[in-house]
Amino acid sequence: IKTIGILTSGGDAPGMNAAIRAVTRSGICNGFEVKGIYRGFDGLINNEIRPFTTENVSGIIMQGGTILKSARSKGFMTPEGRQKAYENLRNEGIGALVVIGGNGSLSGARIFAEEFDFCCVGLPGTIDNDLYGTDSTIGYDTTMNTIVECVDRIRDTAQSHERIFFVEVMGRDAGFLAQNSAIASGAEAAIIPEDSTDVDQLARFMERGIRKSKKSCIVIVSESPKCGALYYAERVRKEFPNYDVRVSILGHLQRGGRPTAHDRILASRTGVGAVEAIMQGQRNIMVGIRNNEIVYVPFSDAIRTDKPLDMKLIKVLDELSI
Ligand code: F6P
Repeated sequence: IKTIGILTSGGDAPGMNAAIRAVTRSGICNGFEVKGIYRGFDGLINNEIRPFTTENVSGIIMQGGTILKSARSKGFMTPEGRQKAYENLRNEGIGALVVIGGNGSLSGARIFAEEFDFCCVGLPGTIDNDLYGTDSTIGYDTTMNTIVECVDRIRDTAQSHERIFFVEVMGRDAGFLAQNSAIASGAEAAIIPEDSTDVDQLARFMERGIRKSKKSCIVIVSESPKCGALYYAERVRKEFPNYDVRVSILGHLQRGGRPTAHDRILASRTGVGAVEAIMQGQRNIMVGIRNNEIVYVPFSDAIRTDKPLDMKLIKVLDELSI
């Protein structure tokens, strides 16, 4: 392997640029040529591939988003698209592909790696923290801090008006962002997909919370097409018409912003780990960090959908929100 290709795919995440920088610089340091592939797997199919030097990645460690752009590629889901991608990699002399992305992106990398017996290495780039085998994913810490900052502000107005706020956060099917941002912001409850909080439970909780000393209350709700913050707000409005209920859906502001030091370090360490993995002949693995050690996690494990949320945290939130 003489040349490494890098791409970012799926939802962007703060820290992706730090990861691109790390792979590029570590690759060059270790004698590889490095090529940047624009617009994720779509760019691989459309041959949007450019040589990368250390200058291409200077001054980006602190930038949110991804300088390589990102996409959720439909073309890469087809055998014809992957065939074209493979031909372009061969023509560019790329022998290893580093994919920075979340569950969907690493699933795509896994299929491609098996189909063409190609060396693919993944970096966990997603705000959702839903990749198995790594304690944290690149972007998760930054997003959690962004949510906490937003909730701090919402609390000011919630208290002034004595209102109940349902704040909806991202996370797709995982409750890591909701659960941990609720603890960090001192919210009264979190509604997460991993715990079936039914509306009655919620209503009882509201009654208990409001009857005590608290006159305002913040509930963090994991996004869900069927029962997001609007759904819960509507139910509470019906059952407790006296409460003044508001909804705040934080949306894509959660994905932007300068990465925290934690995410920059995670991206830098796993980026260097990706180049080491390629040199060691590792393939079809995601580089993660567990208990402060670099780990190589087979794609088949990384994309498991059952990364456990620590359910003891529910107790922490419950006890601290009385
Ligand atoms: O996977 C990252 C994520 O931000 C999820 O939390 C969210 O459900 C989704 O992407 C939103 O995707 P899009 O930016 O395509 O609307």
